[in-house]
Amino acid sequence: MRSLLTDLLMQRLAKQTSGTLNKRLYDTLRQAILARAITPGCRLPSSRDLAQQLSLSRNTVLATYEQLLAEGYIETRPGSGTFVTEQLPDGNMERVPDAQEGASHAAAPALSRRGMNLLGYAGASARQWGAFMPGIPDIASFPHDLWRRTQTRLMRRMKPEQLSYSPMGGSPELQLALTEYLRVARSVECTPEQVLITEGTHQGMDLLAKMLCNPGDTAWIEDPCYWGMRNVLTINGLRVTPIAVDDQGMAPPETPPPGRAPRLVCVTPSHQYPLGAVMSLARRQRLLALAQEHNSWIVEDDYDSEFRFSGNPVPALQGLNRNAPVIYIGTFSKTLYPGLRVSYMVLPPQLAQELKIAHAELYRGGHWLTQSTLSEFIREGHYAAHIRRMRLLYARRRALLTQLIESHLGSEYVGDRSNAGLHMLLKLPAQVDDVLLSTQILRHGVMVKPLSSYYLRPTAERGLLLGYASVEESEIVRAFDVVVACLRTLPGLAR
Ligand SMILES: Cc1ncc(COP(=O)(O)O)c(C=O)c1O
Repeated sequence: MRSLLTDLLMQRLAKQTSGTLNKRLYDTLRQAILARAITPGCRLPSSRDLAQQLSLSRNTVLATYEQLLAEGYIETRPGSGTFVTEQLPDGNMERVPDAQEGASHAAAPALSRRGMNLLGYAGASARQWGAFMPGIPDIASFPHDLWRRTQTRLMRRMKPEQLSYSPMGGSPELQLALTEYLRVARSVECTPEQVLITEGTHQGMDLLAKMLCNPGDTAWIEDPCYWGMRNVLTINGLRVTPIAVDDQGMAPPETPPPGRAPRLVCVTPSHQYPLGAVMSLARRQRLLALAQEHNSWIVEDDYDSEFRFSGNPVPALQGLNRNAPVIYIGTFSKTLYPGLRVSYMVLPPQLAQELKIAHAELYRGGHWLTQSTLSEFIREGHYAAHIRRMRLLYARRRALLTQLIESHLGSEYVGDRSNAGLHMLLKLPAQVDDVLLSTQILRHGVMVKPLSSYYLRPTAERGLLLGYASVEESEIVRAFDVVVACLRTLPGLAR
């Protein structure tokens, strides 16, 4: 994924016309750092990614990074990557006039340090639709007519106050409908007062980071994980500690390092994102004990657990123990569609009132009509029926994709046997550059996401995430042919 920072470097590099490539890249980076176009603390792309994105040799980038490292402009942080140093060697200087000032102003707006850092890690794509965009449900199969009819009926009955800002926590009918649904479908125990409706999981996470944490606090997140989680936490000043994941889910240390107990522990226990593991009971209990001992909050992101195609449903962590320090997050983005922007949190009773007030203060919720329609949709049984239909459809699509991978590449390339969710992991040998490969596949109009880009620490894991849920069977076959054709151009992968 090319970041804005790489775009900025690319534009600046094009303007450096004299000297060897090494010198031009070195001058470009140094000037951008001194001019604060790349701010102190900003994370630089890995040498591999930068080389690929700027179409340079990896050695050129490595040599430049080494020189900047030796001169103190950048530093490496084990497990995290390469960063612009907080204290620049010419640090007593005021901001150096930018050699490319004027021309580059539009390219390098004066962003905050945390803003630049966010852009350095940006994961959202400009394109949000088409094969094989991960995590998108089949929106065409959504019962749009039924939804419209329900909404029109409710609109006629809408009172003026329902078109004002929403009352605290969102529509009361939806809070009630969710309480019942979550108890039956997810073993989540709560009252309507504990439910807070948010406009997407990111908003919920932002609220938790602001209301439960101080800048500098630690949050544990899975490595690999959903990039959005990391970004929302770090922009709120949290120190994010990546915790490794294995086939039992997140594998936390027995005890946190001294002074670094996590304030938040963010997990996807029912279906680890993006690898697919289910967190074992032993791990769940250990995590609960750890959170209780260290006064941490576990944030359970239960984003797609409705879609498990074989075996028993996996109950939520929230319902495991009474009074567990768990904040449960669910979303309609996967069960219905992401553009709806409705998700929710189940808060422990002691947090509910304060967080609802804070939510109203920060985001001033609305969309009561959408939320009421949704509650009616759930109450009348359409939600459960839609999930049942989509479960069958996605199971078929997943089976087709699995079979294509096995027959064209071999079963060792099937990287996720969870038989759940909306994406499949195509596992690749460690020597494959999955970032470069995804760029090549995108050139043929097919979008896949490189597995290595979901890791926070350097990793040898390589693979491609293929979202199949929104892709019709014939298109799965066509798009997969594109993936295979690109793979076959790689040395040693022809079969
Ligand atoms: C693991 C995970 N959690 C949360 C989300 C975001 O959900 P929402 O659309 O509610 O913001 C995503 C979106 O892809 C995701 O993959």
